[in-house]
Amino acid sequence: MMKIKVNDNFARLKESYLFSEIGRKVRAYQAANPDKKVIRMGIGDVTLPLAPVVVEAMEKAVKEMGVKETFRGYPPEYGYAFLRDAISAYYARKGVKVASDDVFVSDGAKSDVGNIVDILGKNTVLIPSPVYPVYMDSNLMSGNRIELLEAGEADGFLGTPDLLDGETYVIYICSPNNPTGAVYDRAGLKAWVDYALASGSLIIFDSAYEAFIKGDYPHSIYDIEGAEKCAIEICSFSKMAGFTGTRCAWTVVPETLVTEDGFNLKKLWARRQATKFNGVSYPVQRAAEAALSEEGVRECAALVDYYAENAKILSEMLDRKGIFHTGGVSSPYIWLKCPKGMSSWDFFDLLLEKVQVVGTPGEGFGEAGEGFFRLTAFSDRESTIEAAKRLETLF
Ligand code: MLT
Repeated sequence: MMKIKVNDNFARLKESYLFSEIGRKVRAYQAANPDKKVIRMGIGDVTLPLAPVVVEAMEKAVKEMGVKETFRGYPPEYGYAFLRDAISAYYARKGVKVASDDVFVSDGAKSDVGNIVDILGKNTVLIPSPVYPVYMDSNLMSGNRIELLEAGEADGFLGTPDLLDGETYVIYICSPNNPTGAVYDRAGLKAWVDYALASGSLIIFDSAYEAFIKGDYPHSIYDIEGAEKCAIEICSFSKMAGFTGTRCAWTVVPETLVTEDGFNLKKLWARRQATKFNGVSYPVQRAAEAALSEEGVRECAALVDYYAENAKILSEMLDRKGIFHTGGVSSPYIWLKCPKGMSSWDFFDLLLEKVQVVGTPGEGFGEAGEGFFRLTAFSDRESTIEAAKRLETLF
């Protein structure tokens, strides 16, 4: 028997990660019912191919890697300058100032969300509920003290700092929110930035779904004055450009984030990444750069519009059935109330058994998600229409 000690904080976690558990249940169902066509609307995984301009850039880069003169070895640890500049320019086009040098390229927002805890000490962490489960799981793994900020129908799933007493927190914000699709307006985000500045807190802002925003809402926390003194932002090419299988994301850690005991967060993140991460491959970074070009943004917006139309189809079906739901407008997710007061996992089982549609139980996003259910709009059109038809017979 080994005598080593393990990180026993893992005992605080649920047995398996939300989307692994869903995958396991669906595989078991499919194995027992091989003739049934299951429609997957669980994990938010894209289905449309990469935009042509992205593929072209990746092909060109692969060819360069096959020629001695243009071959490249390890990428620069924080990303190639061409991509960091392109990200900075992407922000500038939205009227937001982000220096290229504050941008850190990575293989995914999920990795960065999970890894950021490495540079933080023992703080109380404020996590919205419901929200993307990685915030909770990674803080549980680190043994951090967690407080939940529950949101619900009454506040439109947008928690506010109104009832907080000035305590210092690490505050997670996801806008547009995964899973509810709720988006903070400027006043809503300003309240958080003001709270963070006054209390010495840090905001970790997840903007992975910003490309879906419709209307005049902030796409970045740095749209709010003072955020550069209290916020880290994490964004991704996964949903905006269909990179779930290609892997590329970025994190902004402004130079101006300093603690009262003299630590500079950008220096810590740079040190962490240099030690534990070896960068994103050259062809993928060229592909990401192409996604942010004028043509790339246009082509990727067409992908986003396609998913938005799927969301509309689902949303209209729920309207016809009089089922309360949010999201689907500035988000690829539809967040609906389970009928007849069902629990979200019971509803998951019912949908799988009766109509072979897979969604995500709201409880997986935190206790405040119990009684709700998430459907993604990332399927192809045909499957979305078919799923809407099947669901309509059930409600
Ligand atoms: C989701 O379904 O919530 C996301 O696809 C998960 C992720 O981005 O890691």
